[in-house]
Amino acid sequence: MSSMPPSSSTCCRLSRPLLLLLPFLLSFLHGSSSNSSAGAGVIVQDAAAEGGKASIIFATVGRSRYAFDIFTLPVPPLPPAASFPYSNHTLDRAELLLTDGRSVNYNGFFPRDPCSLISLILSSSSCNHSLLDPKRPSEALVYISEREGSPSIYVDVYPSRSSDRGGAGRGRRAILQDPARLQVPLLRGLGDAGVSLKDKPSVSGEHLIYVSTHEASSVPRKSWTAVYSTHIHTGETRRLTPPGVADFSPAVSPSGQWTAVASSSDRGYTGETRELRTHVAVFRTRDGSERTVVIDHGGWPSWADDSTLFFHRECEDGWWSIFKATIGEGSDVPVERVTPPGFHAFTPAVGNGFVAMATRRPSSSKFRHIELLDLHSGVFVELTAQLSPNFHHYNPFISPDFTRIGYHRCRSSRNSGSSGSGPFLLENIKSPDADISLFRIDGSFPSFSHDGRQIAYTGLPGLHVMNSDGSGERLVLSGNAFATAWDWKRKGVIYTSYGPHFAAESTEVDVISITLKEEEEEEEGGPVSASIKKLTVGAKNNAFPSPSPDGKWVVFRSGRSGHKNLYTMDAVEGESGGLHRLTDGPWTDTMCSWSPDGEWIAFASDRDDPGSGSFSIYLVHPNGTGLRKVVQSGHGGRANHPYFSPDSKRIVFTSDYAGVSAEIISTPHQFQPYGEIFTANIDGSDIRRLTHNPYEDGTPTWAPAAMKPADVLERLPAGAHCKFDDCHWLNQQVRSEHRVGQACGHS
Ligand SMILES: *[C@@H]1O[C@H](CO)[C@@H](O)[C@H](O)[C@H]1NC(C)=O
Ligand SMILES: *[C@@H]1O[C@H](CO)[C@@H](O)[C@H](O)[C@H]1NC(C)=O
Ligand SMILES: *[C@@H]1O[C@H](CO)[C@@H](O)[C@H](O)[C@H]1NC(C)=O
Ligand SMILES: *[C@@H]1O[C@H](CO)[C@@H](O)[C@H](O)[C@H]1NC(C)=O
Repeated sequence: MSSMPPSSSTCCRLSRPLLLLLPFLLSFLHGSSSNSSAGAGVIVQDAAAEGGKASIIFATVGRSRYAFDIFTLPVPPLPPAASFPYSNHTLDRAELLLTDGRSVNYNGFFPRDPCSLISLILSSSSCNHSLLDPKRPSEALVYISEREGSPSIYVDVYPSRSSDRGGAGRGRRAILQDPARLQVPLLRGLGDAGVSLKDKPSVSGEHLIYVSTHEASSVPRKSWTAVYSTHIHTGETRRLTPPGVADFSPAVSPSGQWTAVASSSDRGYTGETRELRTHVAVFRTRDGSERTVVIDHGGWPSWADDSTLFFHRECEDGWWSIFKATIGEGSDVPVERVTPPGFHAFTPAVGNGFVAMATRRPSSSKFRHIELLDLHSGVFVELTAQLSPNFHHYNPFISPDFTRIGYHRCRSSRNSGSSGSGPFLLENIKSPDADISLFRIDGSFPSFSHDGRQIAYTGLPGLHVMNSDGSGERLVLSGNAFATAWDWKRKGVIYTSYGPHFAAESTEVDVISITLKEEEEEEEGGPVSASIKKLTVGAKNNAFPSPSPDGKWVVFRSGRSGHKNLYTMDAVEGESGGLHRLTDGPWTDTMCSWSPDGEWIAFASDRDDPGSGSFSIYLVHPNGTGLRKVVQSGHGGRANHPYFSPDSKRIVFTSDYAGVSAEIISTPHQFQPYGEIFTANIDGSDIRRLTHNPYEDGTPTWAPAAMKPADVLERLPAGAHCKFDDCHWLNQQVRSEHRVGQACGHS
């Protein structure tokens, strides 16, 4: 810091409040954070002193591979020339990386007046601060980062690059390495112990407008997302969304007077996994008043001017398309389709005479790209397809002077940040429950050995075992295994189900036990060394084994009667040593888990409405008595994967209890975009939400002791860290009979 310029010109002198931020700034510059080496996730004896009395590990579909950073490109000259204005080489040099390669960074916003934003943040009467080069204007980026686990809002301030002439040493790296860079987290402390989801930030005057889930909806299956306004300097926060309503994707109009949102009506969440069928509502940014529904079906609004909105919707002809609405004086709002059938276009961001959007074109080999549509000539300019053809690009946004476009994509290895940035095999996540440390695993169905020393998990495919500090990871079984559970008495014995998951009753799936070789015989990463025993016969979808604490029995689900019900069998010999039917009915009972005190078996069942896809959590004694429903996530809702706490008094489970937290099309593929992790008492009382994110969280397990809250890095083969899927349903061939409905109209 000693080389800071002793500046005093127009914008920049060190003001006192900045000093308070220096420790944070330094930690940013040097990339130091939690100690991210294998060995960090160790089970600790004095758990309370290590930030939690217990730990919960869960899986999140795809998330460990996202590695999103925000990038920016200059907007090309419009109307576009006959040939693309940039060569591949120029484009490559022109793309700037704006975020620091730590965690997952996305949904950016360029504030109109970085200087006044800085002075608000730094509690200064001017925007003076000497960290920025006084000869260059500053730029700022407001964005979402998951570096603490749940999405929160950050501001980065850095000297402008727009005047660069592409000199050596400038470009994608330079912004990150600039000592004048400043990073400030905003809105700390909103929500349960400061944990909630924040999304889609905008700066309007002195206020930050954003989505947050910090207030419980208190109604099962109703999304917690609402739009708030926080005064950046005072922190005074006002809810703009009426009670009982869920709002997504806010956008503030150019004048700042109005905010448009995608809003779900009172019906709550009804299980959609692709389009939420929101309407677009507009209200006063100041206080949420004069709220009006302007578009019956649409999402992701973006303003062209204070009376013109662009938005997206899935059309009757099957193509997601961009639309333009003109909000006049009367109640009639003319709507015009601006992107034609033949490719998907969504998440619009309006510039000066153009609209930026993400597209999925049949020609772009299943990758999501950013394009511009010149509104005068009607010509599309593909911006990222040429530069990074094999990356997905998400959620464009435009600078206030319309010269730059921002978006996020997975960082490639050449511009990944410090080695401490992941990917993580175990990622520690700030927990809203002081008694529980939370971890996300890059795998599924984790379970602990009962001495707490080892974790088994599945890779879908493959069953892996590692030490609980993240070391010694090895593949024990290849092929498709799902669910893992350790025997309580016999050391190194793991139960799993082997065969396809999400399959019909008659599918060939069996419960097997695996006996690992003694540890000292193992070499890290060494070959498979285990003996395998098949416990079920008949191969009728026998799955989700969970052993009794006395080591005698295993409960599992089986489709042998034509319905998936629960059975218990001898733990050592399998069915041949004894088989009992525990539940019986024309419905599905599944995902069973035996309590550590031996008193209960928890499971998920759709017996209320068989075949509907709606699951609730039940308990039953192992002798078949005492059946009771403990968690129901509203009418038609889902609660799955129950697992007991070590004292058998609470369960952890995954559920759609809090609905969805973002427009589904704005994230990569989530099979069940509503999954969050919850805990509850075994009588169903005191339900607590542990995770807040727009992804599918599932297959939780409760560790027998607390783990030290630290990340464990994962070694992945080159290229593996960006392997995730974009929304599968965008791959589907659109119905051939193009029935352009009234709601979509013509181009
Ligand atoms: C900001 O800079 C101006 C011009 O250099 C100076 O007059 C003013 O005192 C500075 N304000 C603060 C709060 O440091
Ligand atoms: C981080 O780990 C290294 C080696 O594993 C150790 O020497 C160092 O003390 C640790 N630092 C912190 C802050 O825990
Ligand atoms: C442009 O360059 C990227 C790598 O920077 C490469 O993957 C891509 O294929 C190139 N595109 C063309 C059209 O040459
Ligand atoms: C069944 O098990 C429960 C819990 O262990 C016990 O309280 C109950 O008496 C048992 N009932 C029968 C009929 O054995």
